[in-house]
Amino acid sequence: MANVRSFREGRSKLMDNAEILQSIQALTKNARDTRELMSETVALLQRERPHYAWVGVYLIENGELVLGPFVGKPTPHIRIPLNKGICGAAASSGKTLVVDDVRADPRYLACSLETRSEIVVPIARGGQVLGEIDIDSDAPAAFTDQDRSLLEEVALILAKKL
Ligand code: SME
Repeated sequence: MANVRSFREGRSKLMDNAEILQSIQALTKNARDTRELMSETVALLQRERPHYAWVGVYLIENGELVLGPFVGKPTPHIRIPLNKGICGAAASSGKTLVVDDVRADPRYLACSLETRSEIVVPIARGGQVLGEIDIDSDAPAAFTDQDRSLLEEVALILAKKL
């Protein structure tokens, strides 16, 4: 607990969505490069939203999703074809996917045995999907409309920098 508090620089309260978006906007100016921007963004999201157990960015490279910066347990899914997984489905449709129960979704590629729900938000610019934000939670149906709107705004911010 002491650790978590100091990590939040003494704040006991979590940031609201607007504060998170302001912080990520600030990162777009202060980060040295896009990799640092993505790393800081996934770390900030996990720190401020404790129900996000795993937060990562996948980028499309040569027609497949390639794992970029992430926080959480290492995943075996470093490269995902666009026709595989919930990640592939979100990237190929260009639409946010929320899966309340991953165990009931035949598309699901398991990353951790504890994962119960997942949200995947495409990062797109000018109609072209460049990548996505992928988040797992250990709680079923963990992702609300609040999470979705926050993460879709984050994706818009990142899209301008990719
Ligand atoms: N669950 C994802 C794979 C990525 S891991 O969760 C990090 C999927 O079904 O596409």
